[in-house]
Amino acid sequence: MLKFPDHFIFGTATSSYQIEGDNIWSDWWYWAEKGRLPKAGKACNHWELYKEDIELMASLNYPAYRLSVEWARIFPEEGKLNESALERYQDIIDLLNKKGITPMLTVHHFTLPMWFALKGGFEKDENLKYWEEYVSVIAELKGVELVATFNEPMVYVVAGYLMGMWPPFKKNPPKAGKVAANLINAHAIAYEILHGRFKVGIVKNYQHFIPATNSKRDKEARDRVDYLFNWAFIDGIFHGSYESFMKKYKVNESDLDFIGINYYNIQKVKKSWNPLNPFIVEDASVSRKTDMGWSVYPKGIYEGIKAFSRYERPMYITENGIATLDDGWRIEFIIQHLQYVHKAIREDLDINGYFYWSLMDNYEWAEGFRPRFGLVEIDYETFERKPRKSAYVYGEIAKRKEISN
Ligand code: NOJ
Repeated sequence: MLKFPDHFIFGTATSSYQIEGDNIWSDWWYWAEKGRLPKAGKACNHWELYKEDIELMASLNYPAYRLSVEWARIFPEEGKLNESALERYQDIIDLLNKKGITPMLTVHHFTLPMWFALKGGFEKDENLKYWEEYVSVIAELKGVELVATFNEPMVYVVAGYLMGMWPPFKKNPPKAGKVAANLINAHAIAYEILHGRFKVGIVKNYQHFIPATNSKRDKEARDRVDYLFNWAFIDGIFHGSYESFMKKYKVNESDLDFIGINYYNIQKVKKSWNPLNPFIVEDASVSRKTDMGWSVYPKGIYEGIKAFSRYERPMYITENGIATLDDGWRIEFIIQHLQYVHKAIREDLDINGYFYWSLMDNYEWAEGFRPRFGLVEIDYETFERKPRKSAYVYGEIAKRKEISN
């Protein structure tokens, strides 16, 4: 058997917009109403059922939980603080603690208040004052130690400003660079406010890239994409300059108290002949594909932890999961990834926890409700929660802190 150290935390992860329901002030809601995105509606109805969900986590033996706050609930309109929403988040955190579940909080998980989006969101330097106002409110929350400022900032930038798939649906490389630079500045602002009260980190996606062929062109393309997607953002935080797709930006240097890593899949990179679109990134096709069309590559989680250890900060796997209806595959997926996390521990890498994505099936952004990542199945008609077999297996792993080798 492989034993995990006592301090290692096992948990599950969610985000506000994906589970709460009725986030009518958010940009994603607005665009769904316009027909450009699937509607989230009541999602998992977690905003009403949060007490039951926390009970469920406790009964399944999940010792930690990563959640996010919906900025648009806290400030539905410019300058208008919604106290009762803030109280609800405090209640959620208090309940988690009461049940012995360690919370981890994400301040921004992809969505924006629509009023902020209409002002240009993170494209405009002058808008950072609104972020500062929001973060100052978050600073008042009690009973949480680990706070991540941004979830997957580069995914947000690439999907929203390069590929045009997510709000605000732009395909504009200079803007993408600018937004990324402003997110680094926003992190610096948040770090300044929150550090001292909390341990402040970031949640970074780690994409495991391989070259599509052995050619020098493709290998170089792989290295470039790897840099831009995986490292440029955190390098920016530490070094005060962010290298985008087009140019370098000077940004405000700050710090990280921990690094969260989200890891899912393996992709291959090819150099294209089109200068406007120089890289082709595709699924690597090395395994059976998940319901997201992704290949599974468990060793990548270890490679990711090893690569992020360059920053010499405590690390957590803040997301890892699989969309499938084959729950046996989910169990296998979790165990295989944890085996590689354990390898990282044996090599003395500073990895301190693992959060499965997700506690329950939820709204998978532009994919809607089709992909099912949950340990717990959601019936979207009745909102009934039905733990899958994997939910119990994972609870046993978390309880014993051990897996088979
Ligand atoms: C990462 C994102 O943080 C989360 O919101 C999303 O649901 C999962 N990946 C699965 O795609």
